[in-house]
Amino acid sequence: MLRKIFPKTLLFRSLLIIVVPIILIQVVIGAVFFDSIWFKTNRGLVRGATNEINTFLALYPEFKQKNKVNELINTFKNNTGLIVSIKKETQQLPSANAVKWYSLYDKIVTEEFSDKIKNPYWHNVRFDSSNIQVLVMLNKNEIIEFLIAKSKIRSTSGRIFALWITIPSFIFLIISIIFLRNQIRPIVHLSRAAEKFGKGQFDIDFKISGALEIRQASYEFEKMKRRILKHISQRTAMLSGISHDLKTPLTRLKLQIELLNKNQKLNSLKEEINEMEKMINEYLDFASNQYSQPLEKFNIFQVIQNLIDKSFKKNIKINSPKNLIFSGRKNLIRRCIANIINNSQKYAENILITCKKIKNTTLITIDDDGPGIEDEHKDKVFRPFYRIDKSTAFKDSNFGLGLSIVEDIVNSHGGTVKLFNNPKGKGLRVILSFPN
Ligand SMILES: Nc1ncnc2c1ncn2[C@@H]1O[C@H](COP(=O)(O)OP(=O)(O)OP(=O)(O)O)[C@@H](O)[C@H]1O
Ligand SMILES: [Mg+2]
Repeated sequence: MLRKIFPKTLLFRSLLIIVVPIILIQVVIGAVFFDSIWFKTNRGLVRGATNEINTFLALYPEFKQKNKVNELINTFKNNTGLIVSIKKETQQLPSANAVKWYSLYDKIVTEEFSDKIKNPYWHNVRFDSSNIQVLVMLNKNEIIEFLIAKSKIRSTSGRIFALWITIPSFIFLIISIIFLRNQIRPIVHLSRAAEKFGKGQFDIDFKISGALEIRQASYEFEKMKRRILKHISQRTAMLSGISHDLKTPLTRLKLQIELLNKNQKLNSLKEEINEMEKMINEYLDFASNQYSQPLEKFNIFQVIQNLIDKSFKKNIKINSPKNLIFSGRKNLIRRCIANIINNSQKYAENILITCKKIKNTTLITIDDDGPGIEDEHKDKVFRPFYRIDKSTAFKDSNFGLGLSIVEDIVNSHGGTVKLFNNPKGKGLRVILSFPN
């Protein structure tokens, strides 16, 4: 459950680790501040104003008797800033208090007034932009209006505090996002380079940068890449060398047989030598630096269609979008598909090739209606020189190399090849899957 909500990328995870504590600290500091400072200060200020109202109300009857109400009003105005006016014509107080339920300040004012003012009263915290209005009823035709300056009874430190606590953290958050992104970029570059290398793109331009640990990982990756490339080229060079060296004695043998060709029995020996030569040529052809070709984008449907038109005659159907772009080494991919079709042609009548792209994967499925391959052989047929029916060895150039070359090519593109039984009941299904 938590894993589902938790962000997936390193950037957002790191941000969360930074942001959550900051917000929590702000909430705690905010709560402590509002409870201990803001509430108490405002309450004290409102209480002071309430006391002034009560003092006025206490003195009012006496000054009224002496007809000196105006003097009293002026004294209060000059000394406390309280603006008082007597409203004789007003008959009734408005019914509901004009306060906002969500405002904490209104709540403090309401509580203090209701606690301290004993006469019936009404108050309006939002009378105008700078004053709070309090109407106190003395008797039926006498209501006293008090206007209290907001600046006098409202502490502005709450707002300033809130701004000081939120704006700098917001700025720091943006700065940390920028820094974090820079720290994460080398990791993204490293993973992209590894992905490309996995797909067989060996000419990656990769710059080592970032924090020590990331540099270390990148450096190790570079070392691994160089070792693998060296290993591949060594292996290819060695096998090419062996194949090449074998050609000389073979040619010599052929010449000698040619000279001795009076006896008919030697013909089968000649054939064997020809096959061996073909096999060596095939390997040399394959190993001729094909893997170092750059990746290119091409229409895989077009490539398969051309291949079939040129080299295969049997009943082959293609089921594919007409424009399926694929990124890879064109010659190798063509060879890989040709090898599979070649096999199917040997054993089956009908072949169906299906190409499709699902999300970031290109799937090429080749179905035939031949005898298929039994489960116990499905893994083994990818081994070089492995043939199920050994009697066909070297006949029709069956060296048992076709599928191992297919696997090699697919792996060098970061893909996989799998064999299945044709779901239609009879035959083999080969599925090539490439990340693309
Ligand atoms: N479509 C298929 N139907 C039935 N058996 C198959 C099919 N494809 C391959 N096989 C079996 O798998 C074995 C290995 O195939 P692979 O292509 O590697 O070698 P090959 O076809 O014998 O020789 P090469 O391809 O080198 O000329 C084949 O000998 C054959 O027995
Ligand atoms: Mg084959």
